[in-house]
Amino acid sequence: MAEITRDVLIVGAGAAGLTAANDLRKAGLSVAVLEARDRVGGRLWTDVIEGAMLEIGGQWVSPDQDALKETLEELGLSTYSRYREGESVYIGPSGELTRFTGDIFPVAPATEKIMVELIEKLDAMVAEIDPDRPWAHPNAEALDEVSFEQWLAVQTDDQEARDNIALFIAGAMLTKPAHAFSTLQALLMAASAGSFSNLVDADFILDERVIGGLQQVPLLLAERLGDDVLLNQPVRSLEWGPSTGSGTGGVTATTDDLTVRARFAILAHAPVLYNRISFVPPMPRRQQQLHQHLSMGFVIKVHAVYDRPFWREQGLSGTAFSPYELAHEAYDNTNHDDERGTLVGFVSDKHADGVFELSAEERKERILESLSHYYGPEAKSPVVYYESDWGSEEWTRGAYAASFDLGGLHRYGNDLRTPVGPIHFACSDLAGAGYQHVDGAIRMGHLVASDIVEASRTTSAAAGSAATSAAAGSES
Ligand code: FDA
Repeated sequence: MAEITRDVLIVGAGAAGLTAANDLRKAGLSVAVLEARDRVGGRLWTDVIEGAMLEIGGQWVSPDQDALKETLEELGLSTYSRYREGESVYIGPSGELTRFTGDIFPVAPATEKIMVELIEKLDAMVAEIDPDRPWAHPNAEALDEVSFEQWLAVQTDDQEARDNIALFIAGAMLTKPAHAFSTLQALLMAASAGSFSNLVDADFILDERVIGGLQQVPLLLAERLGDDVLLNQPVRSLEWGPSTGSGTGGVTATTDDLTVRARFAILAHAPVLYNRISFVPPMPRRQQQLHQHLSMGFVIKVHAVYDRPFWREQGLSGTAFSPYELAHEAYDNTNHDDERGTLVGFVSDKHADGVFELSAEERKERILESLSHYYGPEAKSPVVYYESDWGSEEWTRGAYAASFDLGGLHRYGNDLRTPVGPIHFACSDLAGAGYQHVDGAIRMGHLVASDIVEASRTTSAAAGSAATSAAAGSES
């Protein structure tokens, strides 16, 4: 078993871990990034499938994502706008398709009025939430004990308004049914993106893409770290000692063929995977409990590539929504400077469970049938078809990210990012601003690195003064 020693060991070469590793290096600390997979990027994965470049994981950048934008600029990456010219389509409960422009779905005037009022009400509630501390809201407990579905049911009897408002958070963001998460969790999701209106506005939340793919962020960050990023190294165990006044008790990580000793560790992966590591001694009671209350959402990202973007010829932007369709939302996802046309659709939570009961052929047929309801029969015949299935990925286990069960956020949120001795936590799933997004992963990476730099200075100074006192003591 080979052994190495570093100041900080980082578990996970996603955007969070690699950001932290680069910051720590800049601050003069040595690092090792241990990655379970044979590639870096985690939930960022740009690949070529049957000749088509596809963003299998995260891809969109929105205007509020300052941390991600700063990283893109620093890495010299360029962005381009999502195609959005023309009309969007909406399919209502009766299956009727309506074309529209703007953000508000083309529903009956009474339903539209209710939807607008609900959006305003949610915006006002979101404005009171600090995304970094939603549990500090005076009504946090009450809001966390009511599911978003129950909250909506109290607001209105209009089922279509409820279905549409739920969609923006449930199918589209947390990728769990609206009965499975709390109103506080829904408010955090919206607050992390600036407002509820921002989630309703597809032109805001799905604004730009990176030319060449978003996985270039982790690839370029890893390139700077060279041999300090070690692939195929799933961390199996982590021994740690509690911090003392004069230093950290240190950490020792073990993979199948490597032992890494360090002063600090960062767990930079989805919190549902903490239990893949044996902690010696075990994590404290609080963390052992907390971590069980977080679970991944589940969504299939479906890519369909055509020889041309045929929907544009019909005056369609490609943007499509319906809480009543298998693919609840879909967009024009054509690559920069590509003459072929790509659609991306999303099949979420219970719908995703349902289609995974089918054979691959039947599933493809059902999903393309749903896309054809938006775009017409041509949608049924893509030249390339691919389903991103993160639920079957051992080192992710769902998509897009993790969220608390009912009541978990106010009960445990306060300790989500609290270090345990020398062990720190960073991941998009723990972020406030940028929660569940690459922006949040980068923010967490910066934050945890600056905490460790600070802790390292404090413990070095304490160790230095302890050594001086000991030396003075032995001289006297
Ligand atoms: P991430 O999960 O990326 O990285 C963790 C790493 O740790 C992984 O590489 C994993 O293999 C590794 N690991 C885990 N356990 C380990 C162990 N024991 N030992 C060693 N390594 C271990 N965001 C966005 O901003 N815009 C978007 O459009 C989208 N869309 C989107 C679509 C899909 C399908 C997905 C799945 C996700 C998105 N997202 C997104 C979310 C975004 O991709 C996500 O929030 C971040 O990439 C997460 O980055 P992290 O570094 O926090 O974790």
